[in-house]
Order: sequence, then C-alpha cells, then structure tokens
Amino acid sequence: MTTSSQTNSAPIRFDGQVAIVTGAGGGLGRSHALQLAARGARVVVNDLGVARDGTGNAQSAAERVVAEIRAAGGHAMASAASVTDPAAVEDMVSLVMREWGRIDILVNNAGFLRDKSFSKMTLDDFRAIVDVHLMGAVYCTKAVWEIMKQQNYGRIVMTTSSSGLFGNFGQANYGAAKMALVGLMQTLAIEGEKYGIHVNCLAPTAATRMTEDLMRPEDLALLKPESVTPGMIYLVSRDGPSKTVLCAGAGTFSRSNITLTDGVFIGERPDAAELLMANEDRLRDRTGETIPTTGFQQSIMEITKARAGKM
Ligand code: NAI
Repeated sequence: MTTSSQTNSAPIRFDGQVAIVTGAGGGLGRSHALQLAARGARVVVNDLGVARDGTGNAQSAAERVVAEIRAAGGHAMASAASVTDPAAVEDMVSLVMREWGRIDILVNNAGFLRDKSFSKMTLDDFRAIVDVHLMGAVYCTKAVWEIMKQQNYGRIVMTTSSSGLFGNFGQANYGAAKMALVGLMQTLAIEGEKYGIHVNCLAPTAATRMTEDLMRPEDLALLKPESVTPGMIYLVSRDGPSKTVLCAGAGTFSRSNITLTDGVFIGERPDAAELLMANEDRLRDRTGETIPTTGFQQSIMEITKARAGKM
C-alpha cells in the first residue's frame, strides 16, 4: 500500500437514511446493500432474480440478502420489481415512502449481459441491454427525483463500465448503454446541484457471475465485490463528490474524466479538412486540456478562438 494505512476521518454513517440498491440479490449489489445496512441505512434490496442473460425470475435472491442484513441487526426490505417496468418501480418507491418516509440514496446497479460481436447481435439483444441498464436507471431515478428534490438531499449512483468508457469487443450494446449513463449523470448532477442531489458514476471491476468466465481464476480472486463497495460508500456519503466517474476494482480507485483539448483553430476555408489533417499533432496535444463543467464550455472555447481568429 503506498498510502497511509491510518485514517483520521470519522466513520461514514447513514443512520436515519433510506437507500435503494437495484440488482442487490447477488454480486456487487449485494455487497453494496450489506455495507449500507452495516453503516446504519435502511435498505431496499431490489432484485428480479434473473439469469446472467436477463431471463427467468427467482425472487428469492432479494429475500436472501434481506435475511442476511436482518441477521446482522440491520433493517431491510425486499423488492422484486423489475427496473425495466416503470409502474413496478413507482410501486416500489411508493411502498418505501409509506413504510420509511424518505429516500436518500439510489444505487442503480441492476443489469445483465447479451455479449456478441455487433454482426451477430440482434436488435433485440441491443434493446434489452439499453432497457435494463439505461432505461432501468432512468425509471428508478425518475421515481425518486422529486422526492429527493423535496428533501433537498439525495445521492444517486449510476453503475457504468470500462466497456462503455473505453470499449470492449462483443459489448456494443452494453458499452453504449453504460456510456449513456455517464451522459445521464453529467446533466442530472447539474440539475440536482441546487437541491442537494449528488449524481455520480461507479465503474466497477469485480468477480461476479457476470465476469466469472471472462477472467483468470487468480485474477478473479483479487476482484472481490467487497473491494469495490467502499467506492460506492464514498460516492453516496454526505460529503461525497458529484459528477464523478469513479473506477474501482481490487482495492484500487481512480477517476475517469471526459476532457477537452485546447484544440486548433482553422477557420472557414476550402482546405480546412486538409489543414486539420496536417495539424493532427496539435489536435492530439493534451497540454492545457480541461474538464468542462458544462457542454457550453466547448462552444465558449470555439467562439473565443474564432474571435481571436489565428491558427
Ligand atoms: P450480477 O449479475 O451478479 O448482478 C446483477 C443483478 O441485477 C442480478 O442479481 C440480477 O438478477 C439483477 N437484475 C437483472 N435485471 C434486473 C431487472 N430488470 N430488475 C431488477 N434486477 C435485475 O452482476 P454484477 O457484476 O454484480 O453487476 C452489477 C452491476 O455492475 C451491473 O450493472 C453491471 O453491468 C456492472 N458492472 C459489473 C462489472 C463487473 O466486473 N462485475 C464491470 C462493470 C460493470
């Protein structure tokens, strides 16, 4: 370990808070739910209990995790709502409000895979993945958004993936859906700011049934879901960040940023494309690269350069 093994920080606690974790019947979601409960939150353990490709329905998955939380002295309720069913999601949220009266934390984690090369991928495979990862997170977030606004407090995590951030063979559907969650976060973090709502993304790497045949057993042994969960806890804590993509796996945490290079002004001219090609090194140059806080910053940069008018 290269950092200090000591910490002077106060323990991060969620006493009095209510958290919903989707897809919490196993894998990462289970680990998240157990930790949130251990730190004082009342937790809704949501899981439809589907197989790795999204088929089937074993509702007992959520109930088993609820039993684990209760056995450890925590508070939890199970929900078998599918995140792809907006009415079921609304019902889940209404029940939580009736029983516990508030929702502080939403961890959008549910999902499954339909990996195939793009040539072999059917449109149904594509749609199913966008439905569960992107629209599932949209439905759950939409259902808690007004509640969090009224509370003037909320913490939302979208589970993205390195497949979306950087690409992975055979995951065009999954990568597109996971990167869409980054876009969703970028805007919701801006819109939520004045209501005390933080929105972040977590890009995990963990040994779960989703990855069990994708990596070597000795690597999987290092990638425990429990070593990702501290990243989620940091993101949903009261003093945590917003608009962050946190990568987490095997105990290492890093940030992924979407940046804008300083660029090259070429202007309107017939040979603009050729000049751009000739100036590729300046296009790639990362000196002075920024992380824009809103999309408008790109336009402002472009207008400023056009006004200055020099290459
Ligand atoms: P997992 O398969 O163990 O957990 C996903 C859970 O979501 C399952 O329990 C499943 O029943 C549930 N689920 C699926 N569809 C649902 C629906 N419509 N409604 C409610 N629940 C549903 O997989 P894992 O690895 O724990 O994945 C958790 C999240 O992390 C997923 O979003 C995944 O894409 C993401 N992720 C995982 C990585 C890894 O290395 N394991 C890497 C990058 C992202």
